[in-house]
Amino acid sequence: MGMLDGKVAIVTGAGHGIGRGHALELAKHGAKVVVNDLGTTVSGEGHGKDADLTVDIIEGRGGEAVGNYDNVADYEGAGRMVAQAVDTYGRLDILVNNAGIVRDSAIWNMDEADFDSVIAVHLKGTWAPSKHAAIHWRERSKSGETFTGRIINTTSGAGLTGNFGQSNYATAKAGIAGMTLTLSLELYKMGVTVNCVGPAAATRITGTMPGAPKVIEADEVPEDEFNPMDPSTSSPLVAWLASDESQLVTGQIIRAVGERIILMEGWRDGATITTKKRWDPTKLGQQLATDVFGTRAPGLRY
Ligand SMILES: NC(=O)c1ccc[n+]([C@@H]2O[C@H](COP(=O)([O-])OP(=O)(O)OC[C@H]3O[C@@H](n4cnc5c(N)ncnc54)[C@H](O)[C@@H]3O)[C@@H](O)[C@H]2O)c1
Repeated sequence: MGMLDGKVAIVTGAGHGIGRGHALELAKHGAKVVVNDLGTTVSGEGHGKDADLTVDIIEGRGGEAVGNYDNVADYEGAGRMVAQAVDTYGRLDILVNNAGIVRDSAIWNMDEADFDSVIAVHLKGTWAPSKHAAIHWRERSKSGETFTGRIINTTSGAGLTGNFGQSNYATAKAGIAGMTLTLSLELYKMGVTVNCVGPAAATRITGTMPGAPKVIEADEVPEDEFNPMDPSTSSPLVAWLASDESQLVTGQIIRAVGERIILMEGWRDGATITTKKRWDPTKLGQQLATDVFGTRAPGLRY
């Protein structure tokens, strides 16, 4: 008996790379998978039926999957994708928002289109499928059904700590972390958890960087071999987050990098100063230096 037996999942951008790894892993544990992929280049040009590559592998291994070729950043397309899961398999349980592109350059060289397209695929491409999935789950919840639902989003080290040359991508990936926190609050009462993983792997995306390792596809690594750059190193974590076992885990940002799984602990209150009257900017600097940034000896004050 698989931990995801009977579950219906969508994995976006699952024709290649990390998404393919997730789709194979979910199917291996019993989920029926809608494999979405627009079939673009790594910078988001063109379209094709790359989703079928992953569907064929899942079916070849005895699993159930169907291809979807919609653009996750297209609101209507995202709706068709969720409708396809419901029409084909009866409902949706798990949504893995993974599709992505990159168009890197320092901000002074970055075209407006490079900003807009990367924001669209990652940020709207996470929001739009989540919105259609949320409508599906809300309808089921209002009809009195008890169930579990899952959204698993994809962030990146760039979005959590910044990366030179990725002002578009880092902005989108930080936004996805913020969206995760908010959706986790909005959906939990329905039984839906929302978490976010930050993977790392030798995929087409990292292949664009100078000195990058050779691109690996998830099905190329034998099951009994551990390769830290395998696109599926984060997939077991995704499968667990997708399962009913993880019901008490929501609103978490978790990186899975090579041999490590790391809980990311983000923004929280740090050093704090208070006042009873309006701050005076001519004096504020010294107080900030002393009491917030600790750049002056604590005893040195006005
Ligand atoms: N590779 C890494 O080290 C790494 C690190 C952190 C985060 N990520 C994230 O992991 C995710 C997967 O990236 P990857 O490295 O596997 O790259 P990849 O290029 O191998 O896979 C991305 C897939 O998304 C598809 N896609 C692109 N635009 C789409 C759209 N609008 N609609 C539907 N599908 C679309 C592409 O066709 C492609 O198959 C991305 O969100 C990426 O930002 C990757």
